[in-house]
Amino acid sequence: MCGIVAYLGYRQACPIILKGLHRLEYRGYDSAGVALMNDGELNVYKKKGKVAELENFIAEKDTHARVGMGHTRWATHGEPNDTNAHPHYSTSERIAIIHNGIIENYAALKTHLQQQGHEFHSDTDTEVFVNLIEEIQQHNHCNLEEAVRLALHEVVGAYAIVVMSRDAPNQLIAARKGSPMVIGIGDGEFFIASDATPIIEYTNEVVYVNDYEIAIIRDGRLELRSKEDVEQTPYIQKLELELDSIEKGGYEHFMLKEIFEQPRSIMDSMRGRLEMNAGHLNMGGFRAYEQKFVNAQRIIVVACGTSWHAGLVAEYLLEDLARIPVEVEYASEFRYRNPVITERDIVIAISQSGETADTLAAIELAKSKGATIFGICNVVGSSIARATDAGAYTHAGPEIGVASTKAFTAQVTVLTLLAMLMGQKRGTLTDTKLRELMVELDTIPAKVEKALLLDDEIRAIAATFCDVPNFLYLGRGYNFPVALEGALKLKEISYIHAEGYPAAEMKHGPIALIDENMPVVVIATRDSSYEKVVSNIQEVKARKGRIIAVVTEGDDVIRDMAEFVIEVPYTSEALVPLVSVIPLQLLSYHIAVMRGCNVDQPRNLAKSVTVE
Ligand code: M6R
Repeated sequence: MCGIVAYLGYRQACPIILKGLHRLEYRGYDSAGVALMNDGELNVYKKKGKVAELENFIAEKDTHARVGMGHTRWATHGEPNDTNAHPHYSTSERIAIIHNGIIENYAALKTHLQQQGHEFHSDTDTEVFVNLIEEIQQHNHCNLEEAVRLALHEVVGAYAIVVMSRDAPNQLIAARKGSPMVIGIGDGEFFIASDATPIIEYTNEVVYVNDYEIAIIRDGRLELRSKEDVEQTPYIQKLELELDSIEKGGYEHFMLKEIFEQPRSIMDSMRGRLEMNAGHLNMGGFRAYEQKFVNAQRIIVVACGTSWHAGLVAEYLLEDLARIPVEVEYASEFRYRNPVITERDIVIAISQSGETADTLAAIELAKSKGATIFGICNVVGSSIARATDAGAYTHAGPEIGVASTKAFTAQVTVLTLLAMLMGQKRGTLTDTKLRELMVELDTIPAKVEKALLLDDEIRAIAATFCDVPNFLYLGRGYNFPVALEGALKLKEISYIHAEGYPAAEMKHGPIALIDENMPVVVIATRDSSYEKVVSNIQEVKARKGRIIAVVTEGDDVIRDMAEFVIEVPYTSEALVPLVSVIPLQLLSYHIAVMRGCNVDQPRNLAKSVTVE
């Protein structure tokens, strides 16, 4: 969480930094600040609230500078306020820092630094970091670069930092461990950011900084060094990001744009993989590890949030099509258990951002036990993508709304292809069944397009329910993870309490919640559990629950039982989540808008959860 951006070059730094902060605001948005170097003066301006408030705050200030850095915060240590906002000065105010991550041993370091006379104004771990750098510099009489390097040996935790010093006005020092950082290289100018979005309109040449690397930008060049002070060769890559893909393109919110992009993003996730003409499936990352997949004894999926829901869909898919045991784990629980992992296990790590701290840690644990790690990430070059043995990108394009939508369907698409490939190679899927699934998968973008036509209908349903305090979501089989996902979408953006349950579990507890005020969304598409779900609907109806049913087109049975019926196109059972999730995304979106919530930046959340 938190977004960092910095600039050194011939242009005015402040507008570039502010624009970059707006792009990174999805990562955290409780306060923001900038540090600008002007004529040997190092000025820090910061403000509680969104980047727009920082902009108003500095509107009258002298912001001329060719070197500067900025930060948008998601609070970890200390409440969101002006003082805890970044950048932070050292005690002498000669050094300033921005930081994304957490310093775990900050309390011990702080006590030591206080004893050395350093003063603290904020509650943050970051202020400890900058004072540690200052203390080392004063004590060792070394330059800033050396002081930062030595400080990195003393801090425990995660960081992406940029440091500026009044004593070296034409220099930026940056370092990372566990939090993302990319450096853009222009003609006589440099950009540092948490992701490439603040950089794309200036240059398409970037270097992804690795853990334990220190970047020194000065004298018109970028130098990379290891923590042990050995020079590293920067690996310059070409960015393949389009500016349009990170703008709203006429939609009121990124979330709505991303929901509507799904026919395209699903197609992009299949491109080059589902080869209908040649009649085969293809996945580069799978090919290299085919024998491992064929001989694997078990698949363990690790993920968080929506990605974990995609993992649950994968459990159904892989067991169904590839007949292999699957365990789906919350990465945060898995990493702190003592899980049994063997060399014949394949761990699939799913993450939109590719930066989720718990998922990364789960990967490291599984790696240390010899498992093969397969990553499914959306962000190219992200930490998880780089930490895995092999993988497949989802190619959904940048997802900026904090609530994940198109990333989910892209993950499910890639997992479907993977399960089909595994089924084929393990001999558990007949050619006929495989062909049928391929043909059906090919139709999914068009079916999603059709489901999106329900938007007006769903907005009307949202108007009926936008003021209720609770929602229940029920589904069975492949639609159980969809019920969980629908409930998560609603609660995270509308702040309505919502629970997802396997429909049959309802009678073991949640049924007590049902009365004439309780909306119950039941996903009841035509599949093998349809009759059972119909019985569950009867149970809700008998207790006067208000039923909103997502059904397959032409279903007249449920129409007579439900208050509202949303008809989605028919598809095969294994592919149904790709279609049935669409109305749930739209329902949560419209309810949140009607409640006046900030849909793209819901309270307390951040897009990329780089703290555990
Ligand atoms: O980037 P990741 O997929 O690893 O993120 C995992 C979760 O933080 C994420 O899915 C979160 O639950 C979303 N806000 C859900 O919409």
